[in-house]
Amino acid sequence: MTANASSDGLMEEIVGLCKRRGFIFPSSEIYGGYNGFYDYGPLGVELRNNIKQAWWRDMVQRRDDIEGLDSTIIMHPDIWKASGHVDGFSDPMVDCKESKLRYRADQLFFAPVIVEGDTIGYVSVIECPEQQEVAEQAAAALKRKAAKQGELAPIVLKDYTESKPEEYELIPSPATGKPGSLTAPREFKLMFETKVGPLADDSATAYLRPETAQGIFANYKNIVDTGRVKIPFGIAQIGKAFRNEITPRNFIFRSREFEQMEIEFFISPNADWKTLHREWIDTCIDWLVSIGLPREGITEDIHPEDKLAFYSQATTDLMFQFPHGEQELWGIACRGDYDLMQHQKHSGKSMTIFDEATKEKYVPHVIEPSLGVDRTLLAVLSAAYTEDEVPNDKGKVEKRTLLKFSPKIAPVKAAIFPLLKNKPELVERAQALYKKLQRRWNVFYDASGAIGRRYRRQDEIGTPYGITIDFDTIEKDGTVTLRDRDTCEQRRVTENELIAFLEEQIDG
Ligand code: GAP
Repeated sequence: MTANASSDGLMEEIVGLCKRRGFIFPSSEIYGGYNGFYDYGPLGVELRNNIKQAWWRDMVQRRDDIEGLDSTIIMHPDIWKASGHVDGFSDPMVDCKESKLRYRADQLFFAPVIVEGDTIGYVSVIECPEQQEVAEQAAAALKRKAAKQGELAPIVLKDYTESKPEEYELIPSPATGKPGSLTAPREFKLMFETKVGPLADDSATAYLRPETAQGIFANYKNIVDTGRVKIPFGIAQIGKAFRNEITPRNFIFRSREFEQMEIEFFISPNADWKTLHREWIDTCIDWLVSIGLPREGITEDIHPEDKLAFYSQATTDLMFQFPHGEQELWGIACRGDYDLMQHQKHSGKSMTIFDEATKEKYVPHVIEPSLGVDRTLLAVLSAAYTEDEVPNDKGKVEKRTLLKFSPKIAPVKAAIFPLLKNKPELVERAQALYKKLQRRWNVFYDASGAIGRRYRRQDEIGTPYGITIDFDTIEKDGTVTLRDRDTCEQRRVTENELIAFLEEQIDG
């Protein structure tokens, strides 16, 4: 029987496994860690690279209408003025004056507690899947404490940005549980600043990019002028982005340094953008499924029109069932011509393109699918983490932990084992196969311990295939045993069959 660990403990299990097996470590751990920053260890960097390579291959190399780009992290500061980030890229925050803790105001929820028409106090809760339940329990406790008889009105949670000035003093701080210490919501700038050049004054201020997208807009003209692109076409970029998040949390889900995979897909202003948007949403869903995410774990969150930025025509977020709840994984936005128009205005350079098909000249509109590498990696880990029970070498059923990664993105593609390490003929044959496979894929050689334990070690890091060289290999027909991680089924295959199978599973 196979089951995913309960979602409550799942994040803890994943964090523990990532540390134990060298996927992800807290940054600067020997100095106590650094909130919002993570390092990727030997297996993590393989997984991360495989995700990026799969995206690049499918979105750039296997398409005729998308070009790649790698722009700098620090760009001319005027780019961020033109894009609106200098003035507008901020999150509302609220401070607790007593505990000195800071919260994102849109993640802090509150409600008045009303009994028989009288407000007897307020409850507050930090955003979480169980927030309604937690708030209702707090309200019931408040009613008991106030010894108030009568019916409790339904608890209607609102986020702190919707609070009225007269409520700031009444809403309890989540840190202390008492009212009176929360400030009014204030805008908190998310861009990291740095200085470029020898001057230390404001003229030297530059920014670490908070998204890769503006590097694409800033290079749009270069690519139009030097490439052979014709509308519709896209420019794709993978790269680091930095945001001084107020509340980095949920492991690598929201961090301060992360990586994005973004496409700006340029279309005619007269195009049927709704159909193209839908096509992009479907392409993105198909890609997530192709790297092993379950289709049923992905839903669409269509932003209501009244919540869209003024320049945006539509945005749909692909949501994924993460261990901490259903959250945004991939944003797919129709941004009109806002960005190119802004850069045309601020740089004085024309952003028009000549459309050969219609003989028109215009500034194109854009559809922007924007995905986080780290968030994808967390989604992949959450979907892959499995606990089940299988028989060991002696036939006794034992628990095992495995990561059911798709072979396409698994950090180690196969492990090669000689059945016994003290038989030179087995070791030699296994080493030869290992060296051969290593030329094409990241494979692992392991000769130590009982074969069952070697399988288990590979199951835990998600290696899809185990290949064992035994006496039949050298004495009979040269076939090897190929074991499947998920089913534990074994079959004998020739070397040619093995390579053809791995090619299909890993590169297909
Ligand atoms: N250019 C559009 C843009 O950057 P966004 O919704 O702010 O849009 C796009 O970010 C994607 O980047 C998100 O859907 C998420 O996958 C990832 N992302 C954003 N902020 C992140 C953070 N602090 N940590 C990890 N990933 C993040």
